[in-house]
Amino acid sequence: MSRDSFGSRFGALVAMAGSAVGLGNLWRFPYLVGENGGAAFIIIYILLSFIICLPIFISEFVIGRRSQKNAFAAFRDLSGGSAWRWVGLFTIIVPLVVLSYYSVIGGWSVEYLLKSVSFSFTGEASQSVFHSMFTDFVSSTWAPLIAHTAFLLVTTLIVIVGIKDGIEKFSKVMMPLLFFIVVAIAIYSMTLPGASAGLDYLFNPDFSKITGKAIAAALGQAFFSLSLGFGTIMTYASYVSKKENIMFQSAATAVSDLMFALIAGMAIMPAVFAFGLNPQSGPGLVFETLPFVFGQMPAGGVVAILFFLALLVAALTSSISMLEVAVAYLVEEKKFSRLWACVVLFAVCWVVGAICSLSFGPLSDIKIDGGNIFDFFDNLSSNILMTLGSLLTVLFVGWRLKKTDVYDEFTNGGTLSRNARLFGVLWFLIRYVCPLAIAAIFISGLL
Ligand code: PHE
Repeated sequence: MSRDSFGSRFGALVAMAGSAVGLGNLWRFPYLVGENGGAAFIIIYILLSFIICLPIFISEFVIGRRSQKNAFAAFRDLSGGSAWRWVGLFTIIVPLVVLSYYSVIGGWSVEYLLKSVSFSFTGEASQSVFHSMFTDFVSSTWAPLIAHTAFLLVTTLIVIVGIKDGIEKFSKVMMPLLFFIVVAIAIYSMTLPGASAGLDYLFNPDFSKITGKAIAAALGQAFFSLSLGFGTIMTYASYVSKKENIMFQSAATAVSDLMFALIAGMAIMPAVFAFGLNPQSGPGLVFETLPFVFGQMPAGGVVAILFFLALLVAALTSSISMLEVAVAYLVEEKKFSRLWACVVLFAVCWVVGAICSLSFGPLSDIKIDGGNIFDFFDNLSSNILMTLGSLLTVLFVGWRLKKTDVYDEFTNGGTLSRNARLFGVLWFLIRYVCPLAIAAIFISGLL
């Protein structure tokens, strides 16, 4: 049976952008900006995205498309069967961990979409109502578990259908929808009286807030947002046609991801400031502050529905990419049928996700390193495992693969002259700048 693949350039692009644009953009980016000095953080984030993360993205792309295999087989075959294959296995297991807790937050967005459809956010006079609404919900046992199950089930159903008919079709419809919704909310939010304070906050830098920790947080966020450090981009790239231009596809994904993050910031911050609220409210920003804001603004009921729909769609186009990594592995290496692979992985992620979900309620007494189990998985994967995965990926491409092979893949056999001209810079970044910068930033974040 021939291997499934993306059917068109646009399809491949929206699927990759779909993987990148997710809760990271709508949920994490705005509050990290809030915690780390507004515009100064954004500037660092943009620099890191293009100087460090784009070369890593391209490295993953090269590995995936060169091998046209799942992540494990890609590392194994391209390294001639050496110990690098264990890195391949690492890149398959980590997205499953992320998917497990990601689908808990995905579940929250299902719940909040339902709440907004029943217009639960209107007319409340105080913000504390929303604080208790959120904490009551996440600390209960069943409601978040059911929402988590629903989210993971939809993810699994899309992946069961396959690459071209499932992942690609879904992304083709949902990504443009997502774009229009987020832009529409941003425009609306910026026209609210008092909104300019939010824009100031986003775009007036305060460099005194830029510490080693803030830079490490920006890098961690850039990895997370571009889905780097595990097999996701690699796996999607393995379904991309040999005719496509790796530079174009990678840059287009990075630019769309950045645009979405900035537009999400412009949708959220002006509205928050317009109602005199504090943006630095951590993860509660989206689930506590915003519902209050929606309750206050004219036509807020409709805006709330659109916002939580966007959040859900963004989360789904990312979660499917995480699941596909391990599905490709089980189907190609372990000869599972696609259906059976999906069922098994659903079960695994459901159990791990359920533990994360319960860690806000019945299991909240279990603390690891001061946080609950959910925080532990989130920190571990975005701050440590993604960094490690990205470091190993650039080391693999820069030091293990042959330069001529990387050149050949990046330039489509020497036929793309612009890529050929850029290759020298790219190679230097992959070989020296990325590994050193990742290591330095990682260590400074620990200090
Ligand atoms: N990039 C996604 C987001 O921003 C998260 C993600 C991480 C997706 C890793 C795939 C792999 O939400």
